Amino acid sequence: MPDSSGALVTMTGITKRFAGVLACTDVDLTVRPGEVRALLGENGAGKSTLMNVLAGVITDHEGTITVAGRPHRFRGPADAQAAGIAMIHQELDLVPELSVAENIFLGREPRTRLRTVDVRRMAAAAAAQLVELGVELDPNRAVGSLRVGEQQLVEIAKALSTETRVLIMDEPTAALADAEVRLLFATISRLRERGVAILYISHRMEEIEEIADGATVMRNGQVAGTVDPRSTSRQEVIELMVGRAEDEQFGTDGDATAGPVLLEVRDLAVQAKGRQSGRTDPAGIDLTVRAGEIVGLAGLMGAGRTELLETLYGAAPPGRRTGSVQLDGRDYAPSGPRAALARGVGFVSEDRRRSGLQLQHPVGHNIVLTALRSLCTAGVVRPGRERRAVHEQVAALGIKAASPAVPVGTLSGGNQQKVVFARQLLARPRLLLLDEPTRGIDVGAKAELYRLLRTLADDGLGILFASSELPELLGVCDRIVVLRGGKVVADMPRHRASQGAVLAAAMGSTPKGQA
Ligand SMILES: Nc1ncnc2c1ncn2[C@@H]1O[C@H](COP(=O)(O)OP(=O)(O)OP(=O)(O)O)[C@@H](O)[C@H]1O
Ligand SMILES: [Mg+2]
Repeated sequence: MPDSSGALVTMTGITKRFAGVLACTDVDLTVRPGEVRALLGENGAGKSTLMNVLAGVITDHEGTITVAGRPHRFRGPADAQAAGIAMIHQELDLVPELSVAENIFLGREPRTRLRTVDVRRMAAAAAAQLVELGVELDPNRAVGSLRVGEQQLVEIAKALSTETRVLIMDEPTAALADAEVRLLFATISRLRERGVAILYISHRMEEIEEIADGATVMRNGQVAGTVDPRSTSRQEVIELMVGRAEDEQFGTDGDATAGPVLLEVRDLAVQAKGRQSGRTDPAGIDLTVRAGEIVGLAGLMGAGRTELLETLYGAAPPGRRTGSVQLDGRDYAPSGPRAALARGVGFVSEDRRRSGLQLQHPVGHNIVLTALRSLCTAGVVRPGRERRAVHEQVAALGIKAASPAVPVGTLSGGNQQKVVFARQLLARPRLLLLDEPTRGIDVGAKAELYRLLRTLADDGLGILFASSELPELLGVCDRIVVLRGGKVVADMPRHRASQGAVLAAAMGSTPKGQA
């Protein structure tokens, strides 16, 4: 029920300070029932912080919150939930060991008369919830065995299983492929018809234009403005975000002159041991990456992109491998990530939690972790060299941190992702495997990253770049390889690739070998 002004949620004068950082300063925000409000802004602008205040995750803030005309002072997430506010966090917080159903009903499990958990009823309720979302998932599967995109859908089912009036989504599509995004948008439409207000944080402009009724832009912890995304140009929105004019652009130009073959994959197939449900392992892949080339990997969720990259990085579950892989003309079959690194192969994973960030440790330490050996002389780290290396990476990637000494866990999501990237670059790889590397990175920083990738390629690096964002692949890559069912179904040079052609191949509506 809205209050007399028509507002469902009113936040007034919200200020939140972390040791030394003003994350939100005097923010006002009003949302009506049935409204989809986008929140956007650069990495570190304060979006997650503001929403954590609304969801009761952050309680030591200034300012007031009113829901349906009633003032609230949340003492924790449970209070916010009781007021009808649910949040899907940027970093998913599911329990990997528990099943899908157990995660959805965590802490509110249906009970039998004997007060034990009613497993059967719980599974049925979870299944119903998933069906309503249009998702096919076995409620009994362990969440840890699901792909990131699937886990995201479980989070959404979980948030919707309570009486929710306000649903906050912090970058919900960052890990979703196109088909799942459609599914999510359909759900959002249904919720909006039921009068649920949705707060939607995203860095993807085209999504915001498609689903948001209004877009509030944050800059340096403050509201820079609220606009109608349909009648405001992208240019204007970006200007509001960064406070200056900047293009959404890709750092590419002209066809790179590709060098010698760096990576040659022939008929690579893997049969993972044991039951690896949900994995699509390579099933006969042919692929070449030349030095100086950026090769895009496209495909729907479950097409096998992540599995291919993991196999090439030696990070896949052990299995029987057939076919051949050569790196620099020598056999390449890494027994693990360490062996891959030793051969000059770097990997940025789609799942930040598995990227090995030590959240309590300083930013600087996290950046130098894999490169430590190269910064040593006779086994001793040279502090000067380490500092310089860290400084260079922080500057190159525009990592926003009060200092390299602060724990990486205190950085905003996008800035954590940049740290992961910095660490890989510092190790000076020859071949860089990227799985959704720009996930959660803001528009300006993305443009810088694209430029950086092109510079690296010009220096002779080979890059294999998996992304669900087709405009990104089309903008950045020299060539696009499309996977489906663990096989290459198309391989097209940039000038012959289009969004339509890639999608058609990914969905199987063109014959094999097209283009
Ligand atoms: N727990 C924390 N301790 C210290 N500082 C923090 C903490 N959480 C956030 N901050 C700081 O508050 C500021 C705002 O961060 P926030 O996570 O709200 O940004 P964001 O807009 O969500 O960015 P992104 O798009 O990267 O997710 C940043 O400078 C961040 O480093
Ligand atoms: Mg955030």
